[in-house]
Amino acid sequence: MFIVLEGIDGSGKTTQCDMLADFLSARLGRSSVVRTFEPGDWDGGGILRDLSLGGQLEGRWSRFFLFMADRCEHLTRVIIPALEEGRVVICDRYTASTMAYQVLSDPQVSDEIAGFMSRLPACLGMPEPDAVILLDVDAGTAEARMRARGKRDFFETMGRDYFERVRSAYLTQMESAAGERWMLIDASGSPDEVFERISKRVLELL
Ligand code: TYD
Repeated sequence: MFIVLEGIDGSGKTTQCDMLADFLSARLGRSSVVRTFEPGDWDGGGILRDLSLGGQLEGRWSRFFLFMADRCEHLTRVIIPALEEGRVVICDRYTASTMAYQVLSDPQVSDEIAGFMSRLPACLGMPEPDAVILLDVDAGTAEARMRARGKRDFFETMGRDYFERVRSAYLTQMESAAGERWMLIDASGSPDEVFERISKRVLELL
């Protein structure tokens, strides 16, 4: 089973991925659960992570293709082998991140390009997740969490409007998937409160 967690920076995704991995490991056994993330969680992936998150790129689509290249390696080396072994894969970000951050949040991207980019993963044979858990939180709350964490990178200096657009881009993707496979989770509140909402939905899925 392939479970993806998505959400804007500061939505608490990474904490919830850890909690979900512990929760499922306790039920299914530690060796049955693989907890991974994008970009970069494969042997040698640090190079692509640094490049895609760094500020030195100038080409409009460079970042999109770097995230896709990272995903190709991650799928081949980590995700697909684990799924073939019958494990549960919990992945912190996947294709919906690229669509939200690199495509749909940009008002200048035409419908034609957005449509093309959204079909690309399936055309390339990238597996669809069994569940996409979308941690939804407003950009103001997310920003306050990020500030408290003291974490800053290229994306985190982009401002509240950008994160509101990324948030809407996630919601648009969920709507166009007609809710299929997507779980919308209110990510406001404490980590335990949010995890309570997630675990209820994941137990239904199992
Ligand atoms: P991540 O390490 O998951 O940071 P956080 O824990 O704060 O969510 O992701 C780093 C950044 O990478 C994040 O700002 C989102 C961005 N990103 C994209 O823009 N596109 C992508 O396809 C992926 C996978 C990540």
